[in-house]
Amino acid sequence: MTKFFKIAAATALLVSSVMAAEYTIKLTHVVSPNTPKGKGADFFAKRVGELTAGKVEVVVFPNSQLYGDGEEMKALKLGNAHIAMPSFSKFTSIVPEMQLFDLPFLFRDDDHLHKVLDGEVGKIIKDKVTAKGFVALDYWDAGFKHMSSNKKAILLPTDAAGQKFRIMSSHVLEAQFKTIGANPQVLPFSEVYSALQQGVVDGAENPLSNFYTKKFNEVQTDLTLSAHGYLGYLVVMSESFWKKFPNDLKPMVLQAMREATEYERKEAALDDADTLAKINEYAKTSGTLKVHTLTPEQKAAWAKAMEAIYPQFYSVVGEDLIKKVQAVK
Ligand code: LMR
Repeated sequence: MTKFFKIAAATALLVSSVMAAEYTIKLTHVVSPNTPKGKGADFFAKRVGELTAGKVEVVVFPNSQLYGDGEEMKALKLGNAHIAMPSFSKFTSIVPEMQLFDLPFLFRDDDHLHKVLDGEVGKIIKDKVTAKGFVALDYWDAGFKHMSSNKKAILLPTDAAGQKFRIMSSHVLEAQFKTIGANPQVLPFSEVYSALQQGVVDGAENPLSNFYTKKFNEVQTDLTLSAHGYLGYLVVMSESFWKKFPNDLKPMVLQAMREATEYERKEAALDDADTLAKINEYAKTSGTLKVHTLTPEQKAAWAKAMEAIYPQFYSVVGEDLIKKVQAVK
């Protein structure tokens, strides 16, 4: 090696050691980087780097690469992962009251939803998560869920009877499908595509971003814009990790999270319309998928059939909590 190259190599080593982050935050999630949650996670990582001048690096592991459903919360407890943003259903074995958010037709629209999440009810739920030894940060959006199938168009609850649907692990979601005569089956998100493709299940319920980025449109023949339930996330951090994290850097991380929440929610709102256009285009060009909208009468029939499960959850979720959500104007 010439003297010049030796100096260049030594300088490169010095620069990289000066630049190397002092702390690493491992963030895990199960969806595509191209979803609102995925984009929000990447935005957070970028802002943490900027606000801490490179002292803290956030490494994002998307697509269940590091941990899948059921593993994320354990990994946070053990300190093997530091931040996760699981959907509400995935908290329900730890905080059963979180099944509240799975109740079909609970939220009237985005505005109602955000008032609930950012208000008293959202705080009650966060406190319960905190009491279980996690740092509860912010609520993020995926969107309203829609039914899909590879058997037939599902326009009325009776159309779903006898069909097998993939669900997340949640007693509410189980009851929701059983009440319309369908067969729910719990599967991790990472297995949904192959389960649909191989006919292990006939259908699923997903927000449009997850439906499209995971290519479920390729293995389903009918998508009904049912918007019968909501899928959202609570961003949580490992308590043991946060306790050891340097106090002087905490405000920057929290600031980056506040900005990421605002960004993620905006992305989710934009993404829904955008993704629907892409799905409609796919339906038109492929000829293998039909997209159905519901008439007000059909929608009312869904609400009537599914809301019938509420009383089953009065004791576990708390009737008062459900009433509080409904009372938010
Ligand atoms: C699902 O399992 O369907 C969702 O929770 C995936 C996600 O994180 O959006």
